[in-house]
Amino acid sequence: MCGIVGVLGKDNVVPSLLGGLKRLEYRGYDSAGIAVQSEGELDRRRAEGKLKNLEAVVRQNPLEALAGIGHTRWATHGVPNETNAHPHMTTKLALVHNGIIENYQELAAELVDRNYTFESETDTEVAAWLITSFLDDGLSPEKAVEAALGKFHGAFSLAVIFKGHDNLMIGARRGAPLAVGWGDGEMFLGSDAMALAPLTQRISYLEEDDWAVLTREGAVFHDQSGAVVSRDIKLTQLTGAMIGKGNHRHFMMKEIVEQPAVIGDTLNSFFNPKTRSISLPDLPFDWNELTKVTIVACGTSYYAGMVAKYWFEKLAHLPVEVDIASEFRYRNMPLPKGGLALFISQSGETADTLAALRYAREQGQFIASIVNVEESSMGRESDMVFHTQAGPEIGVASTKAFTCQLVTLACIAIHAGKKRQTLDHQEEAVLCQALTEVPSRTADILEHDEKIQKLAADLFECRDILYIGRGPGYPIALEGALKLKELSYIHAEGYAAGELKHGPIALLDDAVPVIVVAPSDEFFEKTASNMQEVMARNAKVIFLSDSEGVEKLGGKAMGTITLPKVNPFVAPILYAIPVQILAYHVAVLKGTDVDQPRNLAKSVTVE
Ligand code: F6R
Repeated sequence: MCGIVGVLGKDNVVPSLLGGLKRLEYRGYDSAGIAVQSEGELDRRRAEGKLKNLEAVVRQNPLEALAGIGHTRWATHGVPNETNAHPHMTTKLALVHNGIIENYQELAAELVDRNYTFESETDTEVAAWLITSFLDDGLSPEKAVEAALGKFHGAFSLAVIFKGHDNLMIGARRGAPLAVGWGDGEMFLGSDAMALAPLTQRISYLEEDDWAVLTREGAVFHDQSGAVVSRDIKLTQLTGAMIGKGNHRHFMMKEIVEQPAVIGDTLNSFFNPKTRSISLPDLPFDWNELTKVTIVACGTSYYAGMVAKYWFEKLAHLPVEVDIASEFRYRNMPLPKGGLALFISQSGETADTLAALRYAREQGQFIASIVNVEESSMGRESDMVFHTQAGPEIGVASTKAFTCQLVTLACIAIHAGKKRQTLDHQEEAVLCQALTEVPSRTADILEHDEKIQKLAADLFECRDILYIGRGPGYPIALEGALKLKELSYIHAEGYAAGELKHGPIALLDDAVPVIVVAPSDEFFEKTASNMQEVMARNAKVIFLSDSEGVEKLGGKAMGTITLPKVNPFVAPILYAIPVQILAYHVAVLKGTDVDQPRNLAKSVTVE
C-alpha cells in the first residue's frame, strides 16, 4: 500500500526513480510523483492516476538530478488528486510516506498555531511540515527527523530529502517496510527488495522503529533511542526475470502459469523425498495438548485458512477457529494458554493480520506464520515462519501465493496428524503421494485455458454470478467469487451449496449463472442435489468436476471443465486454478485492468 523509492546517484536519478515506481506500482496506483534535489533546490512532478500519467508529465517537463525520491499512492487521507499526491514539499524538504500518521490532526493544529499552512488534505503534508518546523527551530536534518518521529503515532515508513543537502536522504520505518540498497558510490531506499532489485542486490532492512541516514558513501542506522545500530547487508535473490512479465500480457497470467513450478518448490521445502514424508521442524509445544488452532488472515489468505480448517479437523482431529483479521483483532477473544495461532499472508505486512498476531502474542499463543515475502514484519514477529516459495507476486489479485499457502497448510495438517497419532504412516504416504502429484496435475489444468476462455465469453456480460461448493470446495467457491468480482467488477458471491436454499436461491433465474465446484468427494452427491435445485430455477450451470463427476452430471450443465481425478485431499488446491483462469479471461473480455483493479492495492498496510 503506497510504494517509496529514493536514490542518491552518480548520474541522473529520474529514470531509476520511475523504474522503481514501476516495480512498486502494484502497491497503489491512485497517483504518483517524484521530487529531486538539484543544485541546492527542490523540484517535483506529480500526476493523478497511473504511473504512465506521471511519465507523460516528466516527458513534457523533464527533470534531471543526482538525488530524488518517488512515490506511488493508494489514497487514505484525501482524494487521489494531484494536490494530495506525494512527494509533499515544504520550504526545506520533500517527503514521501507509506501508512498513516494517526495523530496528524492534533499535530496540524499545533503547526497552525505556529502559522504553518497546508495545501493538501493529507497526513503526509503534516509530517513534512512538522519536520520543517524542527528545522526552522535550528535542528539539523537528522535531529529534526528524530524529533518528529518521536511525535508521530501510527504505522508508516517515510523518506525525506532536504533543500541544500545534495548528499543526504533519511528513511524511517514504523510498522511499514523499508529497505536500504547499497550501490557503488550510490545509495537507495525502497519499500521492498523488488523496487531495488535491478539497482542493487545488496540490501539492509530497517527494523521496527529504525531510521537511517543515507549519503552516497553509505548508511548509518539508528534505533528508536537514537543509538547507532548495525543492520546486516543481505544479498537478494530477486532477478529482473522474476519481477518482469516475461512473454505474458499480464502479470496475473504469468503468475497463474508459474504454479506448477512454485507449488513444487513450496512442497519440496516441507517434503522429504527419501522418506516420502512431511518433514517440519519440531515446534516447541506438544501437539497432543493443543485444544485449538486459531487461524487469522484477510481476503484470499483467509480462504486458504478456511480450507485448512477442514484439513486440520479431519487429519489431526484438532478444532480450528478461522477468523478475518479485521474482526478478530477487535473481538478480545480469549485464547487457550499455550495455544497455536497461525497467520497467513502473502505480503506478511497486512496491517490487520499483523495487529491480530500481536494480540495473539499478548495472549500467550505460539505464533506461526505462513508468508511469501521474506523479511516481512509478520515473519520477523513470529516464533516460527513457513515461507511459501511462490516468488514475487505482482498481480494485485493473489493466485500462486494462494495455492502455495494451501500446499504449506496441507503439510502442516499432515504433520499435526502424525504428531497427534490420528494419521498413521500409510495414510501419510497416501496423502504425500497426492501432494507430489499436484504440480503435474496443475500443469494439466493449465491446458484448459482455451476452453475456459470460451466459457468466459458466455459470462462476461452477466450482472451477477454465484459460486457454490461444499466442504473444502466452499472456500474455493468464495475464492472464485472474490477473484471474479475484484478483477471484472461483476457482482459475484460464493456460497456453501447447502446454504443456498436458506435465502440466496431467491436470486436465481436464467440470467444468473452458477459455477459449481464439485470434485468427486464425500460431498459430491449433496452438491449434485444442490446443482439440480439451481437448474430447476433455470439458472445456467458451469460445472467443475473430474471425469467421474462430469460423466454423472456434466450433460446437464451449460459448460463443464473436466479436472484431473485426484485424492479429494488435494482437490481444493487444483480447483483454485480454473476459477483463477476464468476470472482472468472474464476481466480481459470486459477490458478491465487485470493486474491493477480499481480501488485496490497489494499489501494492505492500513487497517
Ligand atoms: C485477493 C487478494 C487479497 C489478499 C488480502 C490479504 O486476490 O489478493 O484479498 O489476499 O489483501 O493479503 P496478504 O495475503 O498479503 O495478507
